[in-house]
Amino acid sequence: MNDARMFAPAAQRNRDAILQVLRGLLAPDAFVLEIASGSGEHAAHFAAALPDCIFQPSDPDPARRASIDAWAAASGLANMLPALALDALADDWAADDWAVPLAMPAADAVLCLNMIHIAPWAAAVGLVRNAARTLRHGGTLFLYGPFKRGDAHTAPSNAAFDRDLRERNPGWGIRELEAVTALAAGAGFAMPEIVEMPANNLSLLFRKGPATQA
Ligand SMILES: C[S@@+](CC[C@H](N)C(=O)[O-])C[C@H]1O[C@@H](n2cnc3c(N)ncnc32)[C@H](O)[C@@H]1O
Repeated sequence: MNDARMFAPAAQRNRDAILQVLRGLLAPDAFVLEIASGSGEHAAHFAAALPDCIFQPSDPDPARRASIDAWAAASGLANMLPALALDALADDWAADDWAVPLAMPAADAVLCLNMIHIAPWAAAVGLVRNAARTLRHGGTLFLYGPFKRGDAHTAPSNAAFDRDLRERNPGWGIRELEAVTALAAGAGFAMPEIVEMPANNLSLLFRKGPATQA
């Protein structure tokens, strides 16, 4: 019996705090595109808790896509779609990647948890550019992870994590909130709503279009 499910202990720890933010953000029938879904445990947890929302997970890594689909199968969730092979570095997600019958949706939210510090800065650039194209007007780009604020780490543990990331790959590293905000503003996103999360993480909610837009 082949079970492709991966288990990420951190995802088990942070999923309920992230779900709480999602509950405050999403309309009951929201379409959520997740980038860098990893094991798929987040998408499965959120889809189970928000049964009228549709979750579209994705990851460029085939083994992770197998895990995502295995979590969906094990959970029996009808509102968790098969994982797509989306890469933040791609020029345009609206090409041929959409293998599902929904074709090219206008997403209500694009969710990306714990990716932009463990990928080159170009992945953040591509994520923001593609999210701006994919989201409906007034939709939200939701980033979660550790961030520097005012060029300073928010905790010694984040500074140590940043050093470890940069040793593994000089192009990786904890991003500055101000740099990410400037990047998003350049793509038409409003200033983010910032939610302090457990373990020195942040949720950043960037709304597409003017902040006053419904
Ligand atoms: C630390 S894991 C986070 C997984 C999951 N979001 C979580 O929080 O548990 C980073 C993920 O980013 C994905 N990733 C790396 N580079 C990427 C890229 N250029 N575009 C999309 N995803 C990428 C990896 O395949 C991996 O699944």
